[in-house]
Amino acid sequence: MDSILVKGGAELSGEIPIAGAKNTCLKLMCASLLSEDPLTLTNVPRLSDVRTLTTLLQSLGCEVAFAQNGGVMMISAADLTSHEAHYDIVRKMRASFNVLGPLMGRDGRAVVSLPGGCAIGARKVDFHIAGLEAMGAKVDLKDGYVHASAPQGLRGAEIEFPFASVGATENVMCAAVRAKGTTVIKNAAREPDTVALADCLIAMGADIEGAGSSEMVIRGVDALRGATHPVITDRIELGTYMIAPAIAGGEVELLGGERHLVASLADKLEGIGVEVTQTNRGLKVARKNGRVAAVDVTTAPFPGFPTDLQAQMMSLLCTADGVSHLEETIFENRFMHAPELIRMGADITVSGGTATVRGVERMRGAPVMATDLRASVSLILAGLAAEGETLVSRVYHLDRGYERLEEKLSNVGALVERVAA
Ligand code: EPZ
Repeated sequence: MDSILVKGGAELSGEIPIAGAKNTCLKLMCASLLSEDPLTLTNVPRLSDVRTLTTLLQSLGCEVAFAQNGGVMMISAADLTSHEAHYDIVRKMRASFNVLGPLMGRDGRAVVSLPGGCAIGARKVDFHIAGLEAMGAKVDLKDGYVHASAPQGLRGAEIEFPFASVGATENVMCAAVRAKGTTVIKNAAREPDTVALADCLIAMGADIEGAGSSEMVIRGVDALRGATHPVITDRIELGTYMIAPAIAGGEVELLGGERHLVASLADKLEGIGVEVTQTNRGLKVARKNGRVAAVDVTTAPFPGFPTDLQAQMMSLLCTADGVSHLEETIFENRFMHAPELIRMGADITVSGGTATVRGVERMRGAPVMATDLRASVSLILAGLAAEGETLVSRVYHLDRGYERLEEKLSNVGALVERVAA
C-alpha cells in the first residue's frame, strides 16, 4: 500500500485548482437511476469513490462512459437488470446506500445492503427507512439487507427528520420526485451537496421547492428526463487547501473557490490571523507572519462548521498560540487523528465529544496513519508544518476523496511525494 512522505517547513505559494465535489457527484450518479434517459455529469472528480459507485451502477445494469479523461461521465439507466446493491460494494462506501431512494422512486423496489458502522461512528439509516415507510413502502431488514417495496408506488407524505441528515434527506428526496402527490420534508439537510442534487433533479424535470432551507416541498411527477449537469466545487477539498497555507505559511489561490461554500471556516480563519480574499478566480488564502491564534470550534450541519473539516482544523490549532476547544457534534467517534497528532508532538486531550488543544510552537514529523479520509489529510497538513519527515500510510483513504493530492500540494511548493509500497 502506498504512503505519502511530507517534509515539513516549506512555505506555500501558487494556485491549486479545486475539483468537483465528491459528495455531490456520488449523489448525482445515484440520481441517474431515476430516468430512463441518460444523465451526463461534468466536472466529475477523479476519485476511487467515483469508480466504486460506477461499479455498483454497472452491477444494476447501467451503462457508464467517460470522456475528457474522466471529467465527463455519461450514465444510461435505460435497462436496469438488477435492483440489488450488494454488501461487497456498499461496505466499501456508505454513499452506495443512496441508490435506495432512486430505485424506490423509479420502480418501487430495491434490495440494498445495510452499510454498517464505520470508523467515525455508528452511522445508522433509521431516518432513511422511516421516510420511505411514511411514503407507503414496506421495509424488511433481513440478512444484513434492506428489502423495500411499494408495489402500488410511493405516495407523498409529510416527513420530519429528528436530525437534518444529509443522506436521509437525499434518499427521501429522490424517492419523492416520482411518488404520487406531494412530499414535505421538515428539518431537511441544507448542505450545498443536497441543494446541488435538487438542482440536478429539477434539470431532469422534478418539481422541488425549498432546497437549501429546512423545509422542502416535492411534488411527484410521472417521469424524469435526461440532462447534462455540472458537479459543484468540492467545499471540503477547498477548506482543506485553505488550511494548508494557514499551517505552512505563504499565500495560495484556490481556483474555483467560493466563500459562501466555506463561510464558517473562512470566518474562523480570519478570526485567528489568516487572510481570506475572494478574487474573480477563486479564494486567496494567506498567512504571512506569526502563529495563528487559538479558537473554539463546534461542528454543526451547514451552514455551521463542517465535521468534514474538523480534523484539518485540529491540525492547524495544534500550533496555534493558546488553548482551543473542538467540539464534534455530528459523529460520535471522529477524533481518531488526535492520537496520531500527539505522536507528532501535539498536546491534545479528548474528553467525550470535545478535544482540548494546547498549541505548541512546533510539531515533529513521525510515521502516522489514519482510519478515514479527513483524518488522513489532517496528518498531511500537520506534516507541512512539522520539523522533519512525516510518513502517512494507508493512503487509499486519501485517494477516495482527494484528486492528485501530492501533485496539487507539490505545485505550490510543499515537499510531498507518494512512496510506492
Ligand atoms: C454525509 O454523510 C457525508 N457523506 C459525510 O461525508 C458528512 O460527514 C456527513 O454527511 C455530514 O455532513 C456523503 O455525502 C457521502 P448524515 P451522511 O446522515 O449522509 C446520524 C466525508 O468525509 N443519522 O447527515 O451519512 C448519523 O449517525 C464524509 O466525505 C442517524 O442517526 O451523514 C450521524 O451521527 C464522511 N440515522 C448524523 O446523523 C440516520 O438514518 C449525521 O449523518 C441517518 C443519520
